[in-house]
Amino acid sequence: MKPHALCMPIPVQGHINPMLKLAKILHSKGFLITFVNPEFNHQRLLRAHGSEAHAIEENFLVPFKSLITKVSASHSPVTCIVADVLMGVTHAAASELGIPEILLWTSGAGSLLCFDQYPYLLEKGLMPLKDSSYLVNGYLDTVLDFILPLHGIRLKDIPPFIRYINPGDEYMVQFFCSQVERAKSDSVSAIIFNTFDEFDCDILDTLSSKFPPCYGIGPLHLLENKIVDKTLASFKSNLWKEDTECVKWLDSKDSSSVVYVNFGSITVMTSQQLVEFGWGLAKSNYSFLWIIRPDLVIGESAVLPPELLAEINGRGLLASWCPQIQVLNHPSIGGFLTHSGWNSTIESISNGVPMICWPFFGDQQPNCWLGCNKWGISMEIDNNVKSDEDLLNRKVNVVLFSVWVAVFVFTDV
Ligand code: UDX
Repeated sequence: MKPHALCMPIPVQGHINPMLKLAKILHSKGFLITFVNPEFNHQRLLRAHGSEAHAIEENFLVPFKSLITKVSASHSPVTCIVADVLMGVTHAAASELGIPEILLWTSGAGSLLCFDQYPYLLEKGLMPLKDSSYLVNGYLDTVLDFILPLHGIRLKDIPPFIRYINPGDEYMVQFFCSQVERAKSDSVSAIIFNTFDEFDCDILDTLSSKFPPCYGIGPLHLLENKIVDKTLASFKSNLWKEDTECVKWLDSKDSSSVVYVNFGSITVMTSQQLVEFGWGLAKSNYSFLWIIRPDLVIGESAVLPPELLAEINGRGLLASWCPQIQVLNHPSIGGFLTHSGWNSTIESISNGVPMICWPFFGDQQPNCWLGCNKWGISMEIDNNVKSDEDLLNRKVNVVLFSVWVAVFVFTDV
């Protein structure tokens, strides 16, 4: 009988993508797969890909145990649960039913190490922040010398969920840390990471001394390319419809001449930040492909002023979602302006594309820090300079930003 893995992702794009890739790879190695997909996302997949989405296993039930019982009865017994680390809800069911569990950490390995340090940050009195002045008085530049594989990392480079001021604001860090603690449970056989051993081996070694064995098995998108079964290979997980015209536009551009700009699937920004970014890109005089999701701007639709659109016209192409891996693999892409989500980071690295990073939250800060300081393949834009409303400063920001783009493309980091 085939081994049967039930794959349980967190239902957001950046977590579904690596889990589906892993599921496909396991299937190509002989596993029967049940992929749990909430109805809401299933409808989005249907809208994005049409009937092709039916090919993904449709079974899902809210009570996880009932789901396991049902798919075990209707197919073959579930022999392994592959769950996102942040889906801690699976542990109790796995232990109770005696099913081995393997966890997938879909973010950067460095961020798991940061979350694991949270109790020490509390113990050392480094967190919580005493008051809001600590966000701007240089305190966040404090270097943390006790996270050895991340030697030199500053408080500002660890996931911002960890920095909080008022008791009651720590619910996000508490959620993450409780999931991280559960990942240490005896019922977990291993934790796997979508990463390169060459980059993260010291972090994985450190994690393995505290967690179940940790293995880097990525990059999953490169392994996915080796799947020979065409039907299996064609299953897609993008929740937005891809604009493939942008690839044709890239075909018309010179080699390494285009800056690709994309902030992933859940990052949001203010309208002012969007427009400021737009001017920075426009003034850089480089060609660019800029992906603006319909829900990128907080509370409103993303609208660019006509004078900015006129400036962009011809040099920049705007789209709402693209086939990112194909774009990053395109010879005309010279650099990637990214929010430093882990999938974007690893997809960029494996295509040899240097990054300009504007991290927003979660693992994006440590991913950015590693790219800039350890691997030497990224440059960071300081997010804080974007918060000033003053017009003069805004102009300076636009100039600084366009210089960043220019330096970045010229030096080919
Ligand atoms: C989230 C978190 O923000 C991120 O920090 C964490 O590491 C994973 O979960 P997200 O913000 O969506 O992810 O970013 P990222 O990790 O980069 O994942 C985005 C995925 O969507 C990538 O696989 C990318 O290839 C894909 N994508 C994105 C597209 O296919 N087209 C697009 O236009 C944009």
